[in-house]
Amino acid sequence: MVMIAPSILSADFARMGEEVRSAKAAGADWLHIDIMDGHFVPNLTVGPDMVKAVKRSVDLFLDVHLMVTNPENFFEPFARAGADLLTFHIEVDPDPTARIQMVRNSGRQVGLTLNPDCPVEAVLPYLHLVDLVLVMSVFPGFGGQKFIPESVDRIKKIRDHIVADKLSCRLEVDGGVTRENAPGLIAAGVDILVMGTAFFHENDRAGLVSAVKSY
Ligand code: DX5
Ligand code: ZN
Repeated sequence: MVMIAPSILSADFARMGEEVRSAKAAGADWLHIDIMDGHFVPNLTVGPDMVKAVKRSVDLFLDVHLMVTNPENFFEPFARAGADLLTFHIEVDPDPTARIQMVRNSGRQVGLTLNPDCPVEAVLPYLHLVDLVLVMSVFPGFGGQKFIPESVDRIKKIRDHIVADKLSCRLEVDGGVTRENAPGLIAAGVDILVMGTAFFHENDRAGLVSAVKSY
């Protein structure tokens, strides 16, 4: 069954504790936390202290998405703050091998992500080294953007490689995911749906989660 990772970027920051507990109560599997440095992407968000605060507020797996130019400077601080999985961008360096090992050394799961304009071939040589590949279905930086439909075929391509090579790496999609486009993404082979706006701007969050999980 597909898993749902609400992105706290679209939560009410003044009520973060309540918001993340509501995500758990609605049946969310993970929480997705977007870290932006104002350099890799044109926006700023939060740091390890927010991860620590979320960890204290709720017992959910914390999926930390690092949209930063020097992710290696932040693996340890986020691992110590309570991140369960650290995902960084292949755009930072076409050979992510050393950074993958650095995350492993921090004792956390490791994910690799790619922007919509990065050929999927760039990540294929590293699928066997990571726990997760995150396919960006918008250009990162802001919540509430429109889903890029070509992402479905990109997901299928990566899924075909995971199946062909019998790998255990999970596939996650992030950006503009909604109740409407979820069925196509699930059919394409995605394991985890990140949902920011679609989740936190929804009044019936439990209804949304159960509808998406029934597809
Ligand atoms: C985009 C972030 C996403 C974002 C998703 O830069 O990486 O995780 O919060 O939000 P929605 O679902 O609103 O596109
Ligand atoms: Zn994200």
